[in-house]
Amino acid sequence: MKTYRIAVIGLGQRIAHVLAAMVEVGWTLEVAGYVDPAPVGAPILEEHGIAAGRPYPDPAALFADGPYDLVMIGSPNHLHLEHLKAAFAAGYPIFAEKPIVRTEAETFELARLMAAAWAPPLYIGLVMRSMPIVRAVIARVDSGELGEIISIDATEHLPPEHGGYLARNWRRKQEWGGSYLLDKVCHDFDIFGRIAGARPAKVASFGGRRIFTAERTGVPKTYEDGSAAYALRDAGWAGANDSFQSDMDVTDHQVAIVEYANAVRLSFHANSHVALQERRWYVAGAEGTLLADLVRNRLMVRRALDRRKPERMDFHERTDDNHNGADQAMAWDLLASLSEGATFPVTPYDSMEAGLTVMAIDRAMEAGQVVDCAPMWSAFDAARNGAISAIAR
Ligand SMILES: NC(=O)c1ccc[n+]([C@@H]2O[C@H](COP(=O)([O-])OP(=O)(O)OC[C@H]3O[C@@H](n4cnc5c(N)ncnc54)[C@H](O)[C@@H]3O)[C@@H](O)[C@H]2O)c1
Repeated sequence: MKTYRIAVIGLGQRIAHVLAAMVEVGWTLEVAGYVDPAPVGAPILEEHGIAAGRPYPDPAALFADGPYDLVMIGSPNHLHLEHLKAAFAAGYPIFAEKPIVRTEAETFELARLMAAAWAPPLYIGLVMRSMPIVRAVIARVDSGELGEIISIDATEHLPPEHGGYLARNWRRKQEWGGSYLLDKVCHDFDIFGRIAGARPAKVASFGGRRIFTAERTGVPKTYEDGSAAYALRDAGWAGANDSFQSDMDVTDHQVAIVEYANAVRLSFHANSHVALQERRWYVAGAEGTLLADLVRNRLMVRRALDRRKPERMDFHERTDDNHNGADQAMAWDLLASLSEGATFPVTPYDSMEAGLTVMAIDRAMEAGQVVDCAPMWSAFDAARNGAISAIAR
């Protein structure tokens, strides 16, 4: 089997876990080199017996030692565009983490770049697309058994350790992460758009920071069993020490409503500090209903006029990272795309649409107004067609 020669930009926890999953599913690979001032993922690679390769000071030096079979980008979100541009110029296939870029302007710039010149194959780590349960959700919707999709209700609620980590890690700052929803749930909004089968027409949202704030003095820092709370791993690059005393400027809870162009309506609720963890999609069609529990990896479906027990599917695999086997499934998809030219489950344009959807939601929250998404989609389509529109500049 071919040994894939891999270059990494941003050797953080995520890329280390993806590399470990790639090896687990049978890739033969060599990490030839990486660019990262302080690679947070190095110990994870070591645990999995993968050598990190040679450090390089910048992407130009890394690419000068090519060729590579794959460039993997796992830097903080504000660096994605810069790193994508460098990798485009080098011309090797790219796997880049989500969100593909961080702002509307960056999205339009990327779309224009891809319209203007040949770009190498670009695979985005919207890993939920590869999950067996998510594939089943999409297949059920596509089969028509739910009838026309009418409305969707969804949640993503994180346990305190996860929320506390987000409040200390670089994701706490808009300038690095974008927003809480952009970094955490662009996955979900990618799938919602796919289920709805249309782009959002109008969005509204409310949210803020009422959990991880300095005003909440006296919050206990231990669990009932005496173990330390808000202490999940080192916060890494540009990290802060204390979840409650950091300079966080993203929300820690947020709700949103979306009306898609085809009248599918969606409500979404996210909270980063709950005692009952949940990631749940409730899809109501005119003829049937589907409930996906992404934490327990279970799916339930029933036709509206069926009084028998609902059909229940248990996807069994549950892992501590809550990815429930998704990383391994994505590693397969990536290998199939590179080695056999198979279609990867998500395109860069899907990733840009998911990102823009969340960015419009955040804009609505900031303005305290319903946002009409039409101008944003016109600007996006113009950029995809290579035009420079007023909003995109
Ligand atoms: N698909 C998923 O489920 C998933 C899960 C987690 C993270 N992510 C994404 O992966 C990316 C990385 O997240 P993470 O959790 O691994 O963060 P991390 O903090 O663990 O890793 C980021 C790495 O980037 C490095 N870095 C900082 N500046 C750099 C620069 N100028 N050049 C090169 N490297 C630089 C840091 O030193 C660090 O090692 C983000 O885009 C995040 O949204 C995706």
